[in-house]
Amino acid sequence: MDRPNARPPGDPCDEARVILEARGVTKCYHLGEVEVHALRGVDLSVCEGQMLSLMGPSGSGKSTLMHIIGLLDRPTEGSVIVEAEEVSSMAPNDLAAVRNRWVGFVFQSFNLLSRTTALANVELPLVYAGVSGAQRSKRAREALERVGLGDRLGHLPNQLSGGQQQRVAIARALVTEPSIVLADEPTGNLDSASGVEVMGILQELNTQGITVVLVTHDDTVARHAERIVRIHDGLIVSDEPVAERLSAAELREAVVDMAGRPDA
Ligand SMILES: Nc1ncnc2c1ncn2[C@@H]1O[C@H](COP(=O)(O)OP(=O)(O)OP(=O)(O)O)[C@@H](O)[C@H]1O
Ligand SMILES: [Mg+2]
Repeated sequence: MDRPNARPPGDPCDEARVILEARGVTKCYHLGEVEVHALRGVDLSVCEGQMLSLMGPSGSGKSTLMHIIGLLDRPTEGSVIVEAEEVSSMAPNDLAAVRNRWVGFVFQSFNLLSRTTALANVELPLVYAGVSGAQRSKRAREALERVGLGDRLGHLPNQLSGGQQQRVAIARALVTEPSIVLADEPTGNLDSASGVEVMGILQELNTQGITVVLVTHDDTVARHAERIVRIHDGLIVSDEPVAERLSAAELREAVVDMAGRPDA
């Protein structure tokens, strides 16, 4: 089976294919008298259609960087460039418009509304985008079908497994048709089988052309991407292609094969 690598590993993306860039990004939080330097000068280019894993110890600045490149937060210094446009100095409304059109988020803790069905959870970003009711439910249903949950539209989050809840969250990230999905430890709260499913969906979206940046502490999860960037104390310390990229679809087949064997 073909691996979902769009390009050979290590092929640097040329200027034209950079869709997101952080240049000299710092982030300093002030907590009373204390200053926390969460990012200390990060330069990072993400290529169109790439799948990238961001790794690093707890507190190294991964989520801070994700918030900044996802336009949820602004850098203290430096700039963020989205599709060749400098966005870090945009007015709040303009920045929100770029964010809503351009990026989808997936979080470790799913962040679903608990008394709201899967379908309504996925419709929510379209409510904010002013999409009409009929269109909303059509697009939300399609997004849920895309993550294999077409038969769970009316379920509440507590009627779904963790892996299914994360798939609802992925559908919610997708429903606005973003160019990039940012996933902060998307498998952190899942057992390994559900984690493989979620990684399979992220890889599938990536083969469909969506750029994916994911944060993980898990080496195996990280190797589902084609590139691993490591951050330490707010600085990028390595940036390398993945030599033997893992395919979640192949891992899943291997698990099914093992389970199906009479002597397994
Ligand atoms: N809102 C905030 N106010 C003050 N300090 C913060 C804030 N958010 C993060 N920090 C600090 O910035 C540093 C980086 O935090 P960040 O959440 O980016 O780490 P992380 O790499 O995502 O860690 P983890 O793997 O535990 O999620 C930490 O020292 C953290 O305490
Ligand atoms: Mg974090």
